[in-house]
Order: sequence, then C-alpha cells, then structure tokens
Amino acid sequence: MSKLTGKVAVVTGASKGIGAAIAKALAAQGASVVVNYASSRAGADKVVAEITAAGGKAVAVGGDVSKAADAKGIIDSAVETYGRLDVLVNNSGVYEFAALEEITEAHFHKHFDVNVLGLLLVTQEAAKHLGEGGSIVNVSSVVTRITPATTAVYTATKGAVDAITGVLAKELGPRKIRVNSVNPGMVETEGTHTAGVMGSDFETWAVSTTPLGRIGQPDDIADIVAFLASDDARWLTGESLIASGGSR
Ligand SMILES: NC(=O)c1ccc[n+]([C@@H]2O[C@H](COP(=O)([O-])OP(=O)(O)OC[C@H]3O[C@@H](n4cnc5c(N)ncnc54)[C@H](OP(=O)(O)O)[C@@H]3O)[C@@H](O)[C@H]2O)c1
Repeated sequence: MSKLTGKVAVVTGASKGIGAAIAKALAAQGASVVVNYASSRAGADKVVAEITAAGGKAVAVGGDVSKAADAKGIIDSAVETYGRLDVLVNNSGVYEFAALEEITEAHFHKHFDVNVLGLLLVTQEAAKHLGEGGSIVNVSSVVTRITPATTAVYTATKGAVDAITGVLAKELGPRKIRVNSVNPGMVETEGTHTAGVMGSDFETWAVSTTPLGRIGQPDDIADIVAFLASDDARWLTGESLIASGGSR
C-alpha cells in the first residue's frame, strides 16, 4: 500500500518549483492534495491535471498565505473537499538577494510576511483540524547553516522557520502531531531561474561546494517531504533535515 493512502494534504505554493513536485509526490503516495497558489492559477491547474492524469486526487485553491482569511480558506477547502486534514507542507516562500545597504522596510516585510507570518497563519488554521498522526513539514533552507552574504533578511526568515519548527514540535507533540523542516540547498526551480541564480557564479560556487557535485532538483526535495509526511517518520519531530547533496 502507498505510504499516504487515505490522507489529505495541503501544500502551499504548489503552482511551481519545489511545491509542485511535493504535491505530485504526495499524490503519488496516495494522498488527496490541495494545490495552493497565490498568482499562478494556470500553474496550479497544470499540477492538478498531472496528478489526476496519473490517477490521483487534487484540487487547486488560490490564497495568499500572509492574509489570515486566505490562510483559513486554504485549510477549510481541504476539509470541505476531502473531509479531513493529515498533512500540511508550508512551502510558499519568496527570496531576493539584498546586501546590507540595500535592505528596505519593504524587502524586510515582504519576506517576513510570506515566509514567517504566512507559515504561522496557515499552521494555526491547520492545527484546528490535524489529529493524532498529523504531520507538518516546513520548507526552510540550508542558508540557516551556510549564512551566505547578501541574504540577511531571507536567511533570517528561514532561521525563524527552524526555530518555529522546534517550538511547534513541543506545542503539538502532546497531540501526536509531528513538526519537521526540510532545509534544501540550491534547487533548480522557476524561482531560481527568475532570480538569475541559474547559470550565475553563485550556481558554480554551489556545485563546487556540494559533495554530490550538482545542485538539487525539485524531486530530490519532494521525496524527503513525502517521507517526513508519512508514518515512516513517526519518531521524528522537531528535526531539520538538510537536503543539499552534502553542502553545509
Ligand atoms: N529553489 C531553491 O534553491 C531553494 C533552496 C532552499 C529553500 N527553498 C525554499 O523552497 C520554497 C519553494 O522555493 P521555489 O524555488 O520552488 O520557489 P518558486 O519557484 O519561486 O515558487 C514559489 C511558490 O510560492 C508561492 N507563493 C509565493 N508567495 C506566496 C503567497 N503569499 N501565498 C501563497 N503562495 C505564495 C508561489 O505561488 P504563485 O506562483 O502562484 O504566486 C509559488 O508557487 C521556498 O520556501 C524557498 O524559500 C528554495
């Protein structure tokens, strides 16, 4: 039997990149999946179409995770459509480089609103529905270990995500709900292409400092998330798994 048969999962920011791969991996393991998007309805529809074509169940649900009403709507749609909630993957995220002198209030709030406040708002709603055996997976980043220059705000948001993972593992542990993070190294996605990372000196540096000799692909991360979501990871909570081909 597949690892997530009968489970219901919400994946935020699943219209592209790592989130899309996670949604497909969870569905391939038998979960019914809410594919959340913020602006890319077409991307989310494509992910849903791929899942259903493969015999899985999924629905696209719009919503900005940094808005409380939207966060509630995303979670409520899972319960209304599939009758329960077992897995939440907090994947939505934004990342822009900025040297210290370039940091603005807008840069700070944009990153913290989506990467930290959004994660908290969606998790707050999800916790109302998750039961024993529930699993929350936060997509953090290896940047919290390698602290690259010009990423102060982004790295700070992911440091907050790692801290929140530990705190909520303790808060939700008594209800037998697990909370872990996966911390990817550099991954080829729409986001890293748009940010100009792919093909840059940064990519060359990332490959040269990665023992396995390449950057990651979304599926590399998705399979780890599927493990953390499943009962195979039943004795893991409060963990941050670095998924970076050995770069740290
Ligand atoms: N790629 C990497 O190298 C890397 C490495 C470490 C960690 N990460 C983390 O992995 C996650 C995904 O990264 P990615 O590279 O796959 O990014 P991406 O290709 O840029 O995709 C980002 C996703 O987040 C969604 N999103 C953005 N703002 C949102 C909001 N306010 N509400 C709901 N969804 C929102 C986007 O939705 P729309 O497109 O619909 O607007 C999109 O689906 C992020 O948390 C990122 O920090 C990435």
